[in-house]
Amino acid sequence: MKDTETIKEKIDIVSFISEYVPLKKTGRNFIARCPFHAEKTPSFVVSADRQIWRCFGACNEGGDIFTFLMKIEHIEFPEALKELGKRAGITINQSFTADPKWQVKERLFEINHLASEYYHYLLTSHAVGIHAREYLAARGLHERLIKHFMIGYAPAGWNNVTTFLQKKGYSTEEIIQSGLTISGNARPYDRFRGRVMFTLHNHRGDIVGFSGRVLTETERVAKYINTPETLLYHKGKLLYGLNVTREAIGKSGYVLICEGEFDVLSAYQHGITNVVAIKGTALTEDQLRLLKRYTSEIRLCLDMDLAGDVASRRSIELAEQLEFAIRVVQLPTGKDLDEALKTDQFATKKAIEHAVAIYDFILDSALGRHDATEPFSKKRVADEVLPYFERISNPILHNHYVKKLAVAIRVSESSIEEALTRSAKMRVIRSSGATLPEPVQTRTPRQTLLEEYLLSLIIQSTKPLLYLQIVAQTLTIEVIRSNAVRKLFSIINEKQLVDMKSVDQFLPQELVDIFNKAYLRNIESVTRDASTFEKELKQVLVALKRLELRRKLGEVATKLKQEEAIETLNTQFRSISEQLKTLH
Ligand code: CTP
Ligand code: MN
Repeated sequence: MKDTETIKEKIDIVSFISEYVPLKKTGRNFIARCPFHAEKTPSFVVSADRQIWRCFGACNEGGDIFTFLMKIEHIEFPEALKELGKRAGITINQSFTADPKWQVKERLFEINHLASEYYHYLLTSHAVGIHAREYLAARGLHERLIKHFMIGYAPAGWNNVTTFLQKKGYSTEEIIQSGLTISGNARPYDRFRGRVMFTLHNHRGDIVGFSGRVLTETERVAKYINTPETLLYHKGKLLYGLNVTREAIGKSGYVLICEGEFDVLSAYQHGITNVVAIKGTALTEDQLRLLKRYTSEIRLCLDMDLAGDVASRRSIELAEQLEFAIRVVQLPTGKDLDEALKTDQFATKKAIEHAVAIYDFILDSALGRHDATEPFSKKRVADEVLPYFERISNPILHNHYVKKLAVAIRVSESSIEEALTRSAKMRVIRSSGATLPEPVQTRTPRQTLLEEYLLSLIIQSTKPLLYLQIVAQTLTIEVIRSNAVRKLFSIINEKQLVDMKSVDQFLPQELVDIFNKAYLRNIESVTRDASTFEKELKQVLVALKRLELRRKLGEVATKLKQEEAIETLNTQFRSISEQLKTLH
């Protein structure tokens, strides 16, 4: 048996996907809100008996356990195979020397891994690392953490890591591709020189890049430099620390999000292990989705300008859409978490524990800046907070904060609601002709819809062969215009398939998708009992027949207009009209 088949037999897709999204049983299948796009109503379906998934919403995509893992983890097939093989406890026989894209990535991972060990060795065990060791000690970092987070040191000089990697057998081109080396005009040189090196792992623990900090801050060089965007490193997807802290995040019930590497390390050292850093950028949708796997509450310990910054607002909006509870940590002292913990760890921990709900925080800080007794200041407060309040999709929360604002600036609740409605209207006006076009809805002809629905009815029924016979008796099979549907019917008939679980061996590749889609469509309401089902089937057949007769009638009418053989055509017209009338 092929590796992929063995794996599919050993790992149940329902329990596997459940680890990423909560699945709810409906009839034979399981449904959830799609993990790949934002949606309010669930259109993501998983079938236990066919071991497949499909999104009927915006993605309109589907597949098996492999494609699911590839899509959700942004990995290639060989990686997914390796991972699932490990989980299923089998040794993978297939070789991927043939897959060039995977090969390149694999080599880049190796390069990063070697470089990380190289930097770490220089920091911890080499004379060249002495100043960096002293620097980290002065910042209070324990050796245990240096090891745990694979911190290192990139020595000064232009081609240390470059030469090291070349000697290990990697081409200059590959090393440049990893981001560790810059191609340069004359010749390639090390990107990171004389810096403390933070190894950047993705949440799975693979090394995707590095961040380097100078030991002494000067005007001339950037305090931090990072690996540029590479095949492996994407700034907007990375959360520093997550590979180490994800378990603690799951257990504690929330994640503390801070600004930089030192904040994470400092927190960790002070026993706060449910922490990650976004490295000085705005929170992205990818990062939020990643966190959503472990927790539903975020506590922000960031230097955000919520009143003025569009990026911050966007992050909050995204988090709210993904149904996070969002809280804000108000540090008692210091400019960041690291400093606050060093100055007063107890007060800081208390601030984290008592983090305030984001909307209270927004309102309070606006009230702190404007005098809410003066009319124009009232308006200013409202202008600042309403852009946030109007995006609260939960009606209870929404109403709570509208009330709170009304009380705070002493106006009526209805005036707040009115202001909200107006700004929503303004937004529609502003965004008309906007950059984001509505997805083009290509209309599927009714005939196709009906045929695909008929396919669903047949393959989800209890007696596919019997019902297929009824179809054949009612319609000439040519009436079905979709080649795929016709072909699928004939396969079921020929192979005498009673149980669709065994259909796979007979399905040609090009028909798999249409079959699976039909198999997962939710038609529970009509498959519940035989009489409802049969009534539905009959109606679909009649509708198809009607379409067919109408089409024929149209053809004849066209010919009639051309005045060809009018008599015979008239007869035909009458006869078909008669059939149409007596249909039912
Ligand atoms: N950062 C970055 N590139 C920069 C500046 C900052 O990637 N040019 C990221 C780093 O991850 C850094 C975080 O943003 O940890 C916060 O930067 P900054 O506010 O400058 O950190 P400080 O607290 O001032 O620096 P440190 O704690 O390292 O002394
Ligand atoms: Mn800091």
